[in-house]
Amino acid sequence: MYAQMKPSVPVEENFTSDMNGSPPDKPKLMDGGNYIKEGRDSAKSTCLIFSPKKQDEVGVLSQVLQLFVKHEVNLLHIESRSSLRQPDSYEFMVECAPGGDLGAVITALHSQSGYFSIISRNHKDNLGTVPWFPRRIRDLDKFANQILSYGSELDSDHPGFTDQTYRARRKYFADLAYNYKHGRPIPKVDYTPEEIATWGVVFRKLTEMYPKHACREHNHVFPLLIENCGYREDNIPQLEDISNFLKDCTGFTLRPVAGLLSSRDFLAGLAFRVFHSTQYIRHSSMPLYTPEPDVCHEVLGHVPLFADPSFAQFSQVIGLASLGAPDEYIEKLATCFWFTVEFGLCRQNGELKAYGAGLLSSFGELEYSLSGEPELRPFEPTKTALQKYPITEYQPVYYVAEDFQDAKEKMTKFAQEIPRKFGVRYDPYTQSISIIDSKHQIEELVNNVNQEVQILMDAQRKLKS
Ligand SMILES: [Fe+2]
Repeated sequence: MYAQMKPSVPVEENFTSDMNGSPPDKPKLMDGGNYIKEGRDSAKSTCLIFSPKKQDEVGVLSQVLQLFVKHEVNLLHIESRSSLRQPDSYEFMVECAPGGDLGAVITALHSQSGYFSIISRNHKDNLGTVPWFPRRIRDLDKFANQILSYGSELDSDHPGFTDQTYRARRKYFADLAYNYKHGRPIPKVDYTPEEIATWGVVFRKLTEMYPKHACREHNHVFPLLIENCGYREDNIPQLEDISNFLKDCTGFTLRPVAGLLSSRDFLAGLAFRVFHSTQYIRHSSMPLYTPEPDVCHEVLGHVPLFADPSFAQFSQVIGLASLGAPDEYIEKLATCFWFTVEFGLCRQNGELKAYGAGLLSSFGELEYSLSGEPELRPFEPTKTALQKYPITEYQPVYYVAEDFQDAKEKMTKFAQEIPRKFGVRYDPYTQSISIIDSKHQIEELVNNVNQEVQILMDAQRKLKS
């Protein structure tokens, strides 16, 4: 897939064949090339959130902690906070390391708690465990050690496989991303003359095609990127500059990624309006071909659309729907992402236009998708989500959205089908996810919405007078 997420079919990457004819074989990981540093591994930890029944009893936390000692479960993190579910009460969140008899702790704790919830990446159990998802934007740092393959691994048919200089360069980019932490500026890169020349070929070729083939929103934003972010044939724009620009437009930001993320993690980033982006460039020997997403794909294909408010909302809806969703729905959401954000078409003034980044960064497929040859179907998430798709060749079917507003409404409706015992809401002030699973929280939200409605009514009254 042309995103940094694991496709829902078992192939590591998508590719575009562009000018180079037939697609390569399915990529394989290099033997011994798996470079993943040791780090704190949230894949193995389990979070318990609970509210003790005996809230007023002195030493209740101490009693709870004794349970962990008794069953030899180590804690990585513990915090207490006011309960959002029940006014004037509090709850604890503990992150447990693997090992010990966690099952016994859960059983005992469950019986002593009013509210009790388990969140874990290892959610294949019968306890109703919710799959782990990030609650705060800085939790996205945890994805760095969850990558499925490190960005410096190259397959044997990769154009840069035998080029030691290129491989060293890829390692450099992978390390930059691996060590990145939320809140820091994205490191600026001194691209080499060879890299800039490669970019120049791609930039020139694609920008010739955009006026005719790209959607209105892409063509509207592109001149702004030239003006504000250094989009030029002789300059590879810096992710940090682009991220700051997007933040001003829609609140979206970029985060460098060292390798392939799972669909679950990649989609979770979108819930925070964070897009995981590569920073390296394809090999210079084949400038119009890449077997994986690269900086050309990201900044030419994805970035312009993330500056559009409706598209940004649509993308966030997919991200929010993914949080804590069962695996089969992650696959469905990833498929919807594929046929929209990556390969979506739309109709504008009666003409078919491309808005998917896989198309807008692929000279060959952009032309093909609009040629009248492939089958076109209306975007309908319940049906689109079930569509199988090839990774290593042009898509035989493309889905056409009316517009982003319509696509967003359809996705929102589809998200309501996802079996989840709670609602989620993104709080842009704290850059965190609120889990909504109590009447009290719903009442508070309704009050907030009422306040917003009052502002609208006041503005409307002023306009009329
Ligand atoms: Fe992509």
